[in-house]
Parts: sequence; C-alpha cells; structure tokens
Amino acid sequence: MNILLLGSGGREHTFAWKIAQSPLCSKLFIAPGNAGTDALGVNVYLNVLDFDAIAEFSLKESISMIVVGPEAPLVEGIADYFSSNPRLSDIQIIGPNAKAAQLEGSKAFSKVFMEKYNIPTAGYKEFTAETSEAGKAYIEQSNTPIVLKADGLAAGKGVLILDDKEEAKTELDNMLNGKFGSAGSTVVIEEFLDGIEFSVFVLTNGKDYVLLPEAKDYKRIGEGDTGLNTGGMGAVSPVPFVDSVLMEKVRTRIIEPTIKGLAADKIHYEGFIFFGLIKVGDEPMVIEYNCRMGDPETEVVIPRLKNDLVELFKAMKDDTLGQQEIAFESDSAATVMLVSGGYPEAYEKGKVMTGLDLKTDSILFHAGTKKSANDIITNGGRVLAITSLAESKDSALEQSKSIAEKISFEGKYFRTDIGFDL
Ligand code: AMP
Ligand code: GLY
Repeated sequence: MNILLLGSGGREHTFAWKIAQSPLCSKLFIAPGNAGTDALGVNVYLNVLDFDAIAEFSLKESISMIVVGPEAPLVEGIADYFSSNPRLSDIQIIGPNAKAAQLEGSKAFSKVFMEKYNIPTAGYKEFTAETSEAGKAYIEQSNTPIVLKADGLAAGKGVLILDDKEEAKTELDNMLNGKFGSAGSTVVIEEFLDGIEFSVFVLTNGKDYVLLPEAKDYKRIGEGDTGLNTGGMGAVSPVPFVDSVLMEKVRTRIIEPTIKGLAADKIHYEGFIFFGLIKVGDEPMVIEYNCRMGDPETEVVIPRLKNDLVELFKAMKDDTLGQQEIAFESDSAATVMLVSGGYPEAYEKGKVMTGLDLKTDSILFHAGTKKSANDIITNGGRVLAITSLAESKDSALEQSKSIAEKISFEGKYFRTDIGFDL
C-alpha cells in the first residue's frame, strides 16, 4: 500500500525508517519531511494543516494510510475531515479525531476526564478571565511550588512552575491576558508533584491496545537538567526504575481506565496515546496525555520494536490488534540530540553539516535538516538525533556521544549526560 507520513522531525524520520522496512509499504511519501526522510521515500511539499491539499494528493497517489506525526493536524481535525468525506473515508488515519485529541489539546478536558475515571493525577482547578480573582484566592491557599498550565496547545511552553505566590498571581493574569494567545484563555492551576518522570506509549483502536517500550526524555537544555525547556535533548529506553510492579500499576490504574473511559464517553480513539507519567513514592500519576508519539522518545522506542509497525497499524483497522504480540529488543537505546547554538532561544539555520556519511552502527535520525545543492544543512533548533543500541544504557550513550563528536556544523551543541539520573 502507499503511505503518507506527515511531519518533518526526528520522530518522523524514525517512523519513515521503520515503515520503509515493512513489506506492506509499496510507496512512502513524507510531507514535508527532511533530508533524512528524503533517502527513504519521496518528500512532498505539503503543509500538514492544509487538509484540502493533503486530500487531493492522497487521491492522486492512491494513499491507503496517513500516519500523523505531530499533534496540530489531529487537534485541528484531520481524522474527522477524512472520515466525513465518502471519497476519503477508506484512507486510514493513524491518529485520533479532534474530540479524542482533546486529551492533549485541552488540559482542562484531560483533567475532567481523569477525575471522572479516578485516574491518578495532581489535584487542580480551572480558571478563566471571569474567575481570575477566585484563581488568585486559590493560589493564596495552595502550597508552593504552584503549577500553572495554559489549557490549549502552546508549543510545549504553556506550563509555569512557580515558587512565589505573588509571581503566580501575576502570571495567572498574564496567561489569561494572552501571554500564550488563546491557549491561555483557560488556565489550569494544579498541585506540584514531586517525583521522577517517565513516559509510556500505547497504540489503540479504541478497544484493544498494544504497549510499546517505555522511555524517559531529557527536556532541559543544560547538563544535570538545568536551564530552559526544549523539545527534548535526548532519551533512553528502557527506564531501569520502571519494573514490572510499577508497569502493572500503570496498566491497571492508568492505561486501561483511560481506554475504557474514552469508550464509555463515546469518544472513539484510534492512534497512539503518550502517557506522560511521574512516579511519586511508588505510585504512578499522570502529568499529561499526548495524542501522538513523543520526540525524541520515538527515536529510542521504535528502534527497539521488533514488530512490523505497518502491520500493527493495519491490525487496528482489521480489528486484530488484540491478537498482536509485541516484541522488543532487550538492548538499551539512547539518543543524543545535536542542536543549533542558541536553541531553544534564537538560533541560525543553514549551517553545512559534515560527518553524516561516517560508518557506524548508530542510527542518525534527522530532525531539522534539509538538502541544499550537494550539502545537507541545518534547518531547525533540533538538528539530528543519534540513536545507539547496546547492552547497557551507558554504553549506548557512549556510542552516541562518540558519533556526536564526529559530526560537525557551526554552533553544534549536545548534552553529554542523557540518562544521568537513572
Ligand atoms: P506538560 O506540558 O503538562 O507535560 O508539563 C511540562 C513539564 O512540566 C512536565 O514534563 C513536568 O516536568 C512539569 N510538570 C507539569 N505538571 C507538573 C506537576 N503537576 N507537578 C510537577 N511537575 C509538573
Ligand atoms: N518529548 C516530549 C514530547 O514529545 O512532547
């Protein structure tokens, strides 16, 4: 079958790498893709939010399956757009409809949902401009730190964790007054959870699910988890503290109530669910849901998956997902992200990259790159994810770091301590 993959980051290069290995895939298109996906399929220039253009292209190229990498097209309703048009409804969309994508698209929606189905998460209240005074009173009687979250999508920037109550009140006003645009017109104020974070991923058709390997990502720019938040500077899988006892709690208290709760609420969910979790004492709690795979978590999860990913996607539609046995490499995977100097603040693009053709067992997943004449140049803040598999996470990390040293572009920066706290 012909498959269209939407997105342009390291997550999408990883999906393309995996999909291209499937005998079920005849032709792979990636929109818009990057210099890495270009070697695995055909990059096509389509805006991931231009559903008319994606539909026209899909009909022209006899696409049977569209794999949606990022959240924005899902929250904007790409699955609904295809399912509601009889000419397009046979095309399988890997990703939930707009209502189901609210698990990520609205923090308030996800908190109400978790409360309804007793899924462990931080206590909270939501506020709008009309109730801002009540919000300030709530801050006054809360413990610090205080967590403020813009309700809507804010490109990963909509969460503030503040130690000072007066600052929290000011920031509440700023958010309600448009600091994060309309994403902040409702603000969730929640209790701070003190623990260690990890992520769990499932693929579901709304009824059955398969559990993928867990991962832990490193979001801060600086060594030792310091400095500004980024999209993710590296990741490891498996996560040593996630033992079978903890995983059983995650399954029975979080994953299964989520899938059953969605079905009970008549919200049809087809796609990945990314559970952003935190272990508080011995108990897992939900920090957030995402309606897609993580980036750079995908770069360590998918290389460990032995199954044919396209076969798993197909099983969702054929209603055979419940019979699929998931198998993964016992080896550890670590990925190290090379980023542009200055990221996550202002940075320059267009720097020529060298060393990409070196011989290595590591996998180079392009994140922000593009071709320019005979060169590959940087084209984003996160540029390249270097994934290695080895018997231990430490040796996987060492391998990735040694490759990171050998690839060059002006301003290159990476963290050397991915997995330091495990
Ligand atoms: P989110 O966008 O909800 O994932 O939040 C971004 C980051 O903020 C998370 O990965 C956590 O590190 C942190 N965070 C969010 N909510 C809480 C909370 N209730 N307690 C502690 N940390 C949190
Ligand atoms: N790495 C976190 C995310 O994809 O949201």
